[in-house]
Amino acid sequence: MASSEIVRIGCLGLGKVVEYHHLPGLRLDPRARLVGVCDVDPVLAAQRAEQWGADWHTTDFRQLCAASDIDAVIIATPNDTHRPLAMAAIQHGKHVLCEKPLGLSAAEAGEVYRSARDANVVHMTAFTYRFAPSMRYLKHLIASGDLGSPRHFRSQRFLDLPETSWGWRQYLATAGAGDLFDMTIHRIDFAMDLLGPLQRVTGAIAQFAQRDRTSDGSSCPPSQVDDWSCLIGHFAQGAVGVWEGTTVAKGYGNDGYGHEWAEVNGAEGSAVYRLRDPHHILLGRTGQDLHSVPVPREFLTPSGSPRSSNSGDPATIFRYDLVWEFVSAIVEQRDAVPDFYDGLQAQIVADAVLQSHQEQRWVELGVVPR
Ligand SMILES: NC(=O)c1ccc[n+]([C@@H]2O[C@H](COP(=O)([O-])OP(=O)(O)OC[C@H]3O[C@@H](n4cnc5c(N)ncnc54)[C@H](O)[C@@H]3O)[C@@H](O)[C@H]2O)c1
Repeated sequence: MASSEIVRIGCLGLGKVVEYHHLPGLRLDPRARLVGVCDVDPVLAAQRAEQWGADWHTTDFRQLCAASDIDAVIIATPNDTHRPLAMAAIQHGKHVLCEKPLGLSAAEAGEVYRSARDANVVHMTAFTYRFAPSMRYLKHLIASGDLGSPRHFRSQRFLDLPETSWGWRQYLATAGAGDLFDMTIHRIDFAMDLLGPLQRVTGAIAQFAQRDRTSDGSSCPPSQVDDWSCLIGHFAQGAVGVWEGTTVAKGYGNDGYGHEWAEVNGAEGSAVYRLRDPHHILLGRTGQDLHSVPVPREFLTPSGSPRSSNSGDPATIFRYDLVWEFVSAIVEQRDAVPDFYDGLQAQIVADAVLQSHQEQRWVELGVVPR
C-alpha cells in the first residue's frame, strides 16, 4: 500500500454493477482511490476512465493485475472470467473483491479461495444483500436468541425482467447457470450466514423464456440457462429452508427491484427482511401478528462509515457498503466478510442444486475446511 495509506484500487469490468454499487462506494470512502480501470471494450474503458476520474485505463487485465500503483482490485466481469482474473490478481499480491459467483463451479471457486488464502491477500465475495440493514438486524435477532431456536427459513426473489437477450448471462459457457447463479446464490449465502451450514439439499431449475431476440429486435442464439430455481435444504443445526427465485414473474416489476422476502421462524418468534423496505423489519410472535419495526440506528450503516442512511433509496444505498467493508479489511489488516470461503460454500450448494435437478435426488453436502 502507498505510504499515504490510501488504498489504490483497480476495476476489472466496467459495466452495470460497478456503476451502481462499487463506484458510489468508492466515492464515499476517503481511504480509497480509483487509480486504474480495465474493460475489454476499449471505448468503454476510455470513457469510464474519464468519467470516473481514473489515472489510466487498459483493455488487458494482466496489465492492471501487475500494475505497481494498484493495491486492490474489484472484479466485475462475466462469470467465466472471475477465476482467471482473480488468479492473476492474487499472483501479483493484490487484494481482491470479486463478484459472485466466485467461479463457474465449486472446483473453480475452491481454487480461487485456496490461492487467495495462501497468498495472504484480503479476499471478499460480493454478496450484496448481507449488507441490507434489516438483514444485519435479522442476524443480530437470531444470534441474540430473540426468535428462539430457528425452525424455518424461507426466501422468495421474484423479478419481472424483459424476455429479450440477457447477453453473456444466458449462455452456459459464460454464466454457468441463470437465476440460480445470478440471484438464488445470494439467498443461499445469507441463509447460511444466518443459520450456519447446510447439510443436504434438493432442488430444481426450469427455463421458460427463449430470449432469442435482442432488445432492438435482432435475432441471437437462444438462452441456455434457467430463469426459475428452487431448493429445499436441511441446516446442520436442525432448521429447514425453502428458496424460490424467478426472473419471469409477471407483475413483480416494482421499479426493477421486484419482490424479495426472506424470513426466519423461530420457536419464539418470526422476523422478515424485505428488500424494498430495508430500514424496517417485520416481527411477530404468537398473539402478536407480524408488524413493522424500525431497524435500530446501529444497524443502518457500518461502524465508522461516512454514508448517510437518509440520502438515496434505502434499497440501493446499502450496496455501497461492500467497498467500505473491503477497504476496512485492508486498512485494518483483517479478513473481509463475506470472503472467498463464503463464495465457495454458496457455490457448493448451488452446484448441488444442479446435481439434484439432474439426478432427481437429495444431495449430501460435505464440510470443506477453511
Ligand atoms: N452482487 C450483486 O448484487 C451483483 C449485481 C449485478 C451483477 N453482479 C455480478 O457482477 C458481474 C458483472 O455484472 P454486470 O451486470 O456489471 O455485467 P456487465 O455486462 O454490465 O459488465 C461486464 C463488463 O465486463 C467487461 N469484460 C468482459 N470480459 C472482460 C475481461 N476479460 N476483462 C475486462 N473486462 C471484461 C465487459 O465488456 C463489460 O463491460 C457478474 O459476475 C454478475 O453476476 C453482481
